[in-house]
Amino acid sequence: MDKLVIQGGIRLSGEIRIAGAKNSALPIMAATLLTSDVVTVGNLPHLYDITTMLELLGCMGVESVVGEKMNVEINSSTIRDFNAPYELVKTMRASILVLGPMLSHYGQAEVALPGGCAIGSRPVNLHLAALKKMGADITVENGYIKASTKGKRLKGAHILMDIVTVTGTENVMMAATLADGQTIIENAAREPEVVDLAHCLIAMGADISGEGTATITINGVKRLHGCTYFVMPDRIETGTYLIAAAATRGRIKVKDTRPGILEAVLSKLEEAGAEISLDETSITLDMHGQRPKAVSLTTAPYPAFPTDMQAQFTALNAVADGSGSITETVFENRFMHVHEMNRMGADLRVEGNTVIFRGVNNLKGAPVMATDLRASASLIIAGLVSQNETSVDRIYHIDRGYECIEEKLQLLGAKIRRLPS
Ligand code: UD1
Repeated sequence: MDKLVIQGGIRLSGEIRIAGAKNSALPIMAATLLTSDVVTVGNLPHLYDITTMLELLGCMGVESVVGEKMNVEINSSTIRDFNAPYELVKTMRASILVLGPMLSHYGQAEVALPGGCAIGSRPVNLHLAALKKMGADITVENGYIKASTKGKRLKGAHILMDIVTVTGTENVMMAATLADGQTIIENAAREPEVVDLAHCLIAMGADISGEGTATITINGVKRLHGCTYFVMPDRIETGTYLIAAAATRGRIKVKDTRPGILEAVLSKLEEAGAEISLDETSITLDMHGQRPKAVSLTTAPYPAFPTDMQAQFTALNAVADGSGSITETVFENRFMHVHEMNRMGADLRVEGNTVIFRGVNNLKGAPVMATDLRASASLIIAGLVSQNETSVDRIYHIDRGYECIEEKLQLLGAKIRRLPS
């Protein structure tokens, strides 16, 4: 397993380009199962999760042609097998996103039941309950979700989600596009990636309104057609580099992004002392060489502060001036990075779903281990603000969600290199 070795203590400075959003690309790739026409998806990030989704579609018989600029043409008319195997689902939980489209278009689907992961139990009960309400026959046998419409079309239904779920909303929204009649999703996720998926589905001929609000209405149509769609920029990647720059007291510009989808994070960065300037597609952050100020926060579904940026902000707070608390309300076990940061000299204490922190002047480099995608990013940030050397092990997590992270950080002046094990 590769590791990343970081010599900390350098202020990040410079400009980088943000890639397409992983969490938007994955559902959009799954949505290509809703039509027998070719769908071209552009601005795909160069990530393991994208390769896994292509592999998953490929093992079901779907043909795809990857172009030069991370565009891919996906043709699902060649599908011959409606089974998402455990070997792939276990490496990427977002594989569950093929369930709704396959069931709605082809009337059948078998998807391995995703297990728990490093950040919590992550059940898919709400996906299944909603699809059942739309008329699907669903059983769970031998670790597989077996779903069928018994030769009929799914029926539109009124779905009230007990909890805001991003992929749950996406699965149901995709299934509803080809259902018979109207589906209303209440307490729907409002994440920008849900909106991006809705826009792609609309470009494929779907009748959807209310995306970006808590009530999404979908009027089922008989068929969807092909389209070309460019994935939105990755707000989590954007935020991660901005937080890294703030933690290192630096000044950076991130380009090809969308400032409007990061409001909660930008406002917390300003609270931490960053000067932020925006134009339509870029964000400049400048700490004027100052140490960040401690910022308390609570994660919650969009538009509140995203759970996917909690770990990175914990790294910033670990070296901030002052003390405070970070409360995680979305996942039950998302503080694994805290223990690693304490090994680097941080003063962080977990109490239930809250981390109480007192910022220290400096962290000290140490060998640390990544447990999940965003925790890996936070440990890299911790390494960047440490004196001497930090090595982050198990970085396959980071390659799932960050495109060329060491190259981008090198562009910003960081001393970071990948060591093959
Ligand atoms: C998506 C994102 C992930 C992000 C998360 C929360 C993708 C591919 N991944 O994950 O990066 O961290 O949103 O913003 O987009 N829940 C249930 N039952 C369900 C579904 C969810 O209890 O059927 C719970 C989960 O355990 C969790 C909460 O709902 O506590 C929110 O999870 P959810 O929004 O579904 O996360 P994902 O869609 O898996």
